[in-house]
Amino acid sequence: MFALMTTQRAIGYVVIAIVLIGGFFFIWTQIRIGRKEVGSEIELAPNRRPYLEDRELESGKLNLALWSAFGMLIVICVTLPLYWLAEGGRQAGAIKDFDETFARRGEEIYKVDAKCEGCHGPEGVGGQASYVITDENGQFVSQVNWNAPALNTVLWRFSEAEVRDVLNYGRPGTPMAAWGTIGGGALSEQQISNTIDYLWTFQLSQKEMLDQVDTAIKSAAPKLYDRLVEVRAANAGKLKDPLEYQCTDSTFACLTELENLQLGEILVYLTDPGSGAYSCSRCHVPGASIGRPWAPLAEIARGRRAPNLIGIEANMSINQQFDLVMNGSEYGKQYGANQQGSGRMPGFGINPNLGDLKVPQLGVGGMLGPEEVWAIVVYERNLSQERPDQKGPGVTVTPVNGTPARAATPTPPTSAPVPTSGSGTTR
Ligand code: HEC
Ligand code: HEC
Repeated sequence: MFALMTTQRAIGYVVIAIVLIGGFFFIWTQIRIGRKEVGSEIELAPNRRPYLEDRELESGKLNLALWSAFGMLIVICVTLPLYWLAEGGRQAGAIKDFDETFARRGEEIYKVDAKCEGCHGPEGVGGQASYVITDENGQFVSQVNWNAPALNTVLWRFSEAEVRDVLNYGRPGTPMAAWGTIGGGALSEQQISNTIDYLWTFQLSQKEMLDQVDTAIKSAAPKLYDRLVEVRAANAGKLKDPLEYQCTDSTFACLTELENLQLGEILVYLTDPGSGAYSCSRCHVPGASIGRPWAPLAEIARGRRAPNLIGIEANMSINQQFDLVMNGSEYGKQYGANQQGSGRMPGFGINPNLGDLKVPQLGVGGMLGPEEVWAIVVYERNLSQERPDQKGPGVTVTPVNGTPARAATPTPPTSAPVPTSGSGTTR
């Protein structure tokens, strides 16, 4: 306990000790004096003792009293503002202290209690989860390794409330379980909050994220990377707000159609870095999370938790789509022409926590630059050319915690038993 004592507390204890010891001596001397012989009150009683003369009372004695009062006043005048000045720092220190305690508790949950680390990696760098896929009857389909996305960027793509939603309810049909008691899990609301406090402590900077993606593009297609750098440089002065970027007229520098398709394809399926944290396919393409994008549903049983994007060009304009991918969706808010958001579509170009003063401010921007998002959008709008077989209304995706039901990929007949279509086939 003494090891934990602050300076202020130590001083407090010394003052209390002085007061107690002094008080004890005072009482003790009073008792001693009171024991004197009977009859001595003539000398002892204060009112019988001659006091100072008027002359002395009104000069030396009075001055002493006045000066000491003045001295006390100075002490008060100086210490009060000093105390007040230090109070801000003390409060900030107390808040920081609380924050650190919360993050420490979250770290314990992350590493030990819930073992998030086992799947998402140390400090959320991403990892894999071994998982048994079953069909709608609970029958074994296959044993797979499912990518667990990096969490060191998760608060750059989801608002804190949206991350809380994932932690509370999990992602049914994936290895990500519901952790909140409200979703049937083991962690209380406070523990979920503490876990999020810990997630905040290891979020990457925007530069680190952009660098990670650049490195991946460079190694996949060096020439294309050089072109991207060129286009970025040409836009650097012009582009004030990343949301203004578009390639429908000649306002901004753009990659060619072919380059956009190439870059879009790289980014949509990007599994490294971050175990797919930057990719779209892990949610939108069945089988992508287990390294088998577009695998027949019969073989993977389930695997898409977001709308089929093949044919998206018929549902929304290119600018609406760009806007959605940059900002992500918000619960209850409309996106595109008439779709209703659930908050489960991440925002890749704009920090969704920006301006929420209750959370750390990481800065503007996001995980992908506007030129990259544009390329992704161009690629997605071309998917119906690339995969006409996967297009069209097929199996109904069972809504996941209220996500609007969507059409999923039809199941091509294979030798494996094909799950009957209808609700419950995919989750
Ligand atoms: C058994 C492995 C496993 C454990 C344990 C686990 N997760 Fe997950 N988590 C996953 C997988 C796999 C996904 C991706 C699911 C998908 O494909 O949509 C995921 C998704 C997430 C997401 C959504 C990220 C995104 O961008 O889609 C968050 C946030 C998350 N997990 C946080 C946690 C936290 C915090 C814990 C500990 C309380 C935890 N997870 C424990 C495997 C796990
Ligand atoms: C964590 C899962 C996840 C990831 C990763 C993800 N999305 Fe989505 N996306 C969704 C969900 C869920 C929706 C449905 C909207 C909602 O629920 O708010 C959606 C909706 C969309 C839509 C609108 C589809 C429609 O028919 O309404 C587009 C376009 C889209 N996403 C593009 C992308 C792109 C591009 C990326 C990658 C840069 C991406 N998504 C990454 C989950 C995801």
